[in-house]
Amino acid sequence: MIEVEHLSKKFKDFTAVNDISFKVQPGELFALLGPNGAGKSTTIKMLTTLLKPTTGKLSLNGHDVVKEQDKTRQSFGIVFQDPSVDVDLTAYENMELHAVMYHIPSPQIKERIKDLLTMVELWDRRDNLVKTFSGGMKRRLEIARGLLHHPKVLFLDEPTLGLDTQTRNLLWDYVGNLAREKEMTILFTTHYLEEAEANANRIAIIDHGKLITIGTAEELKKQTKTDSLEKAYLELTGKQLRDEEVSLGEAWRERHRSRNMR
Ligand SMILES: Nc1ncnc2c1ncn2[C@@H]1O[C@H](COP(=O)(O)OP(=O)(O)O)[C@@H](O)[C@H]1O
Ligand SMILES: [Mg+2]
Repeated sequence: MIEVEHLSKKFKDFTAVNDISFKVQPGELFALLGPNGAGKSTTIKMLTTLLKPTTGKLSLNGHDVVKEQDKTRQSFGIVFQDPSVDVDLTAYENMELHAVMYHIPSPQIKERIKDLLTMVELWDRRDNLVKTFSGGMKRRLEIARGLLHHPKVLFLDEPTLGLDTQTRNLLWDYVGNLAREKEMTILFTTHYLEEAEANANRIAIIDHGKLITIGTAEELKKQTKTDSLEKAYLELTGKQLRDEEVSLGEAWRERHRSRNMR
């Protein structure tokens, strides 16, 4: 459903995404993990036609993402890292605006909005301005909006950032149901490793723009001989920080030693 082949993105001299390749199967819940600045959002922006790759090939739902932008755009929904609902509109108006932008036939608009707002438990609040909503409610509205045009693929970039545990769990319940019932393919990023472990069929870890590894949570644990995804993740991405700490420690000991000798 998603194919990424030798994808790179350069901003001037800086390589944000460096020769990444992976495939996501239909119906799969796929997690893209990595520290801040790893290149996750840049990868999603390229897959969603917002940024043009420097090199590489991208395909989504059988469409060439660069050459068939319109068909690609009809194939996915996206929930951005930063909230993007209009807070001066009501929940219903936000949905309606999006439906019109996606050219959903007017006889269907009402029914779809009702179905989706009911699913995310916001139908009763449809006529309230979004500025009165909590963070979790806004996120749920964004997900409902991202699903209006029945996309085959849903991108969720840190959808649970800043939400409390109850809301996060609720959100993943929705997302899991969607993937199952509508056979939707979902690619998401998160900094909560337990969310990836509990919800992703497979996980890709990227760091400094490079793909480090890809596999199930079990495979990543086995690969690193650890007993939790968090430990596996730190084993795979934390090395540089630890090396720096070690070398700082070395430098300190070195200085200490020479001072003692004096
Ligand atoms: N438009 C841009 N211009 C220059 N550098 C950028 C731009 N967008 C992202 N970057 C840089 O690319 C790197 C990857 O960013 P991003 O994909 O947002 O990381 P992540 O989502 O994994 O935290 C970061 O170092 C970021 O500063
Ligand atoms: Mg990001």
